[in-house]
Amino acid sequence: MQFIDLKTQYHALKTEIDANIRAVLDSAQFIGGPYVKELERQLAEFTGRKHCITCANGTDALQLAYMVAGVGPGDAVFCPDMTFISSTEPAKMFGAASVFCDITPDTYCLCPESLERQIQAVRAEGKLTPKAVVAVDILGNPCDYDAIGAICEKYGLFLIEDAAQSFGASYHGKRAGAFGHIATTSFFPAKPLGCYGDGGAVFTDDDQAADLIRSLCVHGKGPGGKYDNIRVGMNSRLDHIQAAVLLPKLKALGDYEMDARQQVARRYSDAFAGRFVTPFVAEGCVSAWAQYALLAEDPAQRDAIVAHLDAAGIPNMIYYPKPQHALPVFRDEPHYGETFQNADDYCARTFSLPMHPYLEEAEQRKVIDAVLEVL
Ligand SMILES: Cc1ncc(COP(=O)(O)O)c(C=O)c1O
Repeated sequence: MQFIDLKTQYHALKTEIDANIRAVLDSAQFIGGPYVKELERQLAEFTGRKHCITCANGTDALQLAYMVAGVGPGDAVFCPDMTFISSTEPAKMFGAASVFCDITPDTYCLCPESLERQIQAVRAEGKLTPKAVVAVDILGNPCDYDAIGAICEKYGLFLIEDAAQSFGASYHGKRAGAFGHIATTSFFPAKPLGCYGDGGAVFTDDDQAADLIRSLCVHGKGPGGKYDNIRVGMNSRLDHIQAAVLLPKLKALGDYEMDARQQVARRYSDAFAGRFVTPFVAEGCVSAWAQYALLAEDPAQRDAIVAHLDAAGIPNMIYYPKPQHALPVFRDEPHYGETFQNADDYCARTFSLPMHPYLEEAEQRKVIDAVLEVL
């Protein structure tokens, strides 16, 4: 059994993927090319955004978003305490500070009340300039964009949606990738839309931001092209072969994979209701189910379940064992009075089960039975 079964997905899409890869090999056009252009067009259409610019990975996509926001020394960037480090890392890299906020106890996403308390605390202290908010659709579940968007507007903050885990999800009829000044995603193979290596994308409706991102991705190129460098940028692009792989996968995700993910999640939630804390998806939202995470009663029960699943050969993971404020790299950051109680509690009790659109009911039954055996 696979935690995320990329082999079965490849076999389902083999004809299209192989033909596209062969076409790239025959063209010998490995950087840029028609598949990259077509993918950007389709991704923009899928998310309802005016612009999509692909890049080398989801981490670069976030760095590009921070650069467009103009994050620099003396700035504060507000991030959820429970995420992968890529969401928060660029702040320190650009000389700014990450200010962590607690997550909600139900969606595990950025808590709007904690965000507002942290913004007010930073303003009251007067040392840092509140600059941007990174809202992460954690585990594939969209954030509360009405509340977070209103807070960003109230305090004049630049909103970045980190949709690395949520491609395919939606919030009140709008797809993940459609929120904030800039949204970013990752095509890391295990993501809901993954390629066969590294890849990422940036989304925006702002023409100027889109031009700036296209320049930043190619060493700050100017109107005269890539040897007319007008600013410091980076080298971040999606390979032609990765775009060729992503096109049939994007179609499958829209045609049936998202529905299959909902079905797998429903089967788990039906089986575990009343026995564990099952994932909560807010009214009007659809999760992309990058992960299916349960909360055990306490850390001891979580450890017992993990040990039992390991012994039974059932893949499982912990996303994430530590919140950001507890990572050695951030341990000395000021906390502005927040205690991150929800993030601490989540990280101490969470465990994730195999989740992908090709998980057969009989296989899933084995996972469910093995988890329930521990109770
Ligand atoms: C929430 C989040 N943001 C950003 C990233 C970074 O993506 P990449 O691995 O493509 O750099 C990840 C990857 O795991 C992620 O989970």
